[in-house]
Amino acid sequence: MSEPLRSLDARYYTDPAIFAIEKQHLLASTWQFAGHVSQLEKPGDFFTFSVAGENLFCIKGKDDAIRAFYNVCQHRAHELVTDSGNAPLLVCPYHAWTYDLKGQLKGGPNIHSTPGFERESICLTSVRLEDFHGFLFVNLDDDAAPMDSWFPGVRDELAQYVPHISTLTPTEYVEIYEHTNWKISVENYSECYHCSRNHPTFASGVIKPETYDIQPQGYCLRHTTECQDDLSDMTYPIDLDSNAFAGKYSSWFLWPLFSFQVYPGNVLNTYHWRIGERVDEVMLYRGWYAHDEASKAVAEQLAIQDRDTTVAEDILLVESIQRGMNSRGYTPGPLVLDPEGGVNSEHSIRALQTWTREAVDAHL
Ligand code: FES
Ligand SMILES: [Fe+2]
Repeated sequence: MSEPLRSLDARYYTDPAIFAIEKQHLLASTWQFAGHVSQLEKPGDFFTFSVAGENLFCIKGKDDAIRAFYNVCQHRAHELVTDSGNAPLLVCPYHAWTYDLKGQLKGGPNIHSTPGFERESICLTSVRLEDFHGFLFVNLDDDAAPMDSWFPGVRDELAQYVPHISTLTPTEYVEIYEHTNWKISVENYSECYHCSRNHPTFASGVIKPETYDIQPQGYCLRHTTECQDDLSDMTYPIDLDSNAFAGKYSSWFLWPLFSFQVYPGNVLNTYHWRIGERVDEVMLYRGWYAHDEASKAVAEQLAIQDRDTTVAEDILLVESIQRGMNSRGYTPGPLVLDPEGGVNSEHSIRALQTWTREAVDAHL
């Protein structure tokens, strides 16, 4: 008999050197959530964000195309924009070099006095961008495979589960600081071996816990479950006849830092993690989306309910685990891997830890 597979060594969650490797070799070559198209209504609208420690921005062009760039001037590196706003042209605050919305340098004070200055050859550095049903993702690796290769089937499945997905706008963003490594938060989200003990609403709620399963689908971890036949106890109204997926629950975690989650009633919500400055901190954003006044009211109610139950329960868990990772008394234990899968198996943790090792170990 071979030895059971053990969980990752504690240093993967505590060592700043491994955190630095992750930024360079994992977060800079995977698809990362930037924002939502509704943040960019008009040409010139932009917003800034960061990925893998890099400062970036998305902007809508006069051609209505959305582009992403590194937020750095190609003269002497001043940052171009801050926060969010609208700009007909991008004017660098340092010496006023001016770029159009496609990132092309258009002019700058006295640049023509310089012999051989080729204005046309200077352009902001662009970043790969994909629009995934209105959710904008970037990848700092220009050679990365497209999202449909990383996450097979997810685009079509989401369109079925959320018929209104193209008309959604964000209604709530709940920000949660967790004093823990990002992988502890992601692993906790991605297994339900802890659910019956720690989430009272899980065992008594709308889903059938014995049917809950989480399986890899490319670099997606797909959560599936059956719901109770009678959904009349739900805390919000659902029209089960409105479409074939109205009574369903599922989620799609997109490695490494994002998840789409759909509750009965086609209610779309998201998990989005952003790494902190330090190895042991992460920000989690719970996004809630709606397409009309009724769904907005539902999203507002669910955001509060979720913050007070699942989120609050999980913060205690992930922060305790981080303290445990720092203990000299901890030796990583065997993962519980049930060949049948199911709610009480950690095969999803095996997948996450394999993906972590794939990205990190060659650089240790
Ligand atoms: S650094 Fe931007 S114009 Fe000089
Ligand atoms: Fe949990």
